[in-house]
Amino acid sequence: MTIYLDNAATTFPKPERVYQEMDSCLRNYGANPGRSGHKLALDAGRAIYKTRELVCQLFNIENPMQVIFTSNATDSLNLALKGVLRSGDHVITTSMEHNSMVRPITALEEIGVENTIVQCDEQGVLDPQKIKTAIKTNTKLIAMTHASNVTGTLMPIQEVGLIAKEQGIYFLVDGAQTAGVYDIDVQKMNIDLFAAPGHKGLLGPQGTGILYIREGIELRHMKEGGTGSKSEQLQQPEIIPDRYESGTPNTPGIVGLGAGIDFILKTGIDKIREHEEGLLKVMLDEFGNIDKLRIYGPVDPKRQTAVVSINIGDEDSSEVSYVLDKVYDIAVRSGLHCAPLAHKTIGTFEQGTIRFSMGYFNTHEEIMKVVTALKQICEELENE
Ligand SMILES: Cc1ncc(COP(=O)(O)O)c(C=O)c1O
Repeated sequence: MTIYLDNAATTFPKPERVYQEMDSCLRNYGANPGRSGHKLALDAGRAIYKTRELVCQLFNIENPMQVIFTSNATDSLNLALKGVLRSGDHVITTSMEHNSMVRPITALEEIGVENTIVQCDEQGVLDPQKIKTAIKTNTKLIAMTHASNVTGTLMPIQEVGLIAKEQGIYFLVDGAQTAGVYDIDVQKMNIDLFAAPGHKGLLGPQGTGILYIREGIELRHMKEGGTGSKSEQLQQPEIIPDRYESGTPNTPGIVGLGAGIDFILKTGIDKIREHEEGLLKVMLDEFGNIDKLRIYGPVDPKRQTAVVSINIGDEDSSEVSYVLDKVYDIAVRSGLHCAPLAHKTIGTFEQGTIRFSMGYFNTHEEIMKVVTALKQICEELENE
């Protein structure tokens, strides 16, 4: 059986109930929600609403209508960034962001949106004071990740949220690496816009994502089309979430996402995090004892998510990953992980890293097998 350690890309496997609920949706009430008025369409609509409510419960969101369903975190980030920023605005971000944040921000330069990329240190750690210093009179938005997908480094979003609130600046958080594992309270943390994929820590299927929009914030919508509401109008309806959710939704996917969040709420987010932290501690301790390994990031289970990036001497990261997969049946990711600025920050832009990312369904036994495999690979490289 493959040891799957690529959960930062997408979690696998999913809780059993995710498969069951998606199967049941497709078989029993796979109608188009919000369009027709028949019983099956109403059942589909109710199932989608239930997931909106579960999202609210997890992130302490008051109004389920402020939760927009998207296809993934990239979709959510694009809607948030391009929906808020206009020509002449300034946005602040960090040097540890994923391309799903960096590329839309770069693209916005074309319409006259300025940006500042605040430099993090070699472990990917952000000093919140640097965000404060970067604020200008035209700063409209601070947009940053909650944790790096390369080093796992946790970012001080609580502190930055406070800075944003004090200065009257919108705060967008990318929860791709933390949603479902770390406590996120959009009210306590002063988060105005919260983007997350449904298919990572929220344990739903691929093709799902969410964007929370704080009440009162008006975004420019990305697309127009059928919403099932205000059908007499030729213009996009103003009401939300319809305004941002044109076209037939991914009902089975959203139902699966609901089942994933239900699993998290019933299992307890603390239990999930503690399990992942336990695995992370073992991995960091054991990797620390292997001479040729270089570990990036904080190397501290309390200051990073269950993501460990390493290199073996000067070895090509993709070759080591290939051997892990081919010889040991261990699935990891290598290279730049769609985050070139993060690799520049930690000094691995040329070599990339080998990334091990753990999830709730990994075990201690699996981690020890990985340790044995890496020790063998190091020995063989030494004997070459
Ligand atoms: C920090 C971060 N942001 C955004 C994304 C993009 O997520 P998605 O693939 O769901 O669009 C990822 C995916 O790895 C990520 O790690």
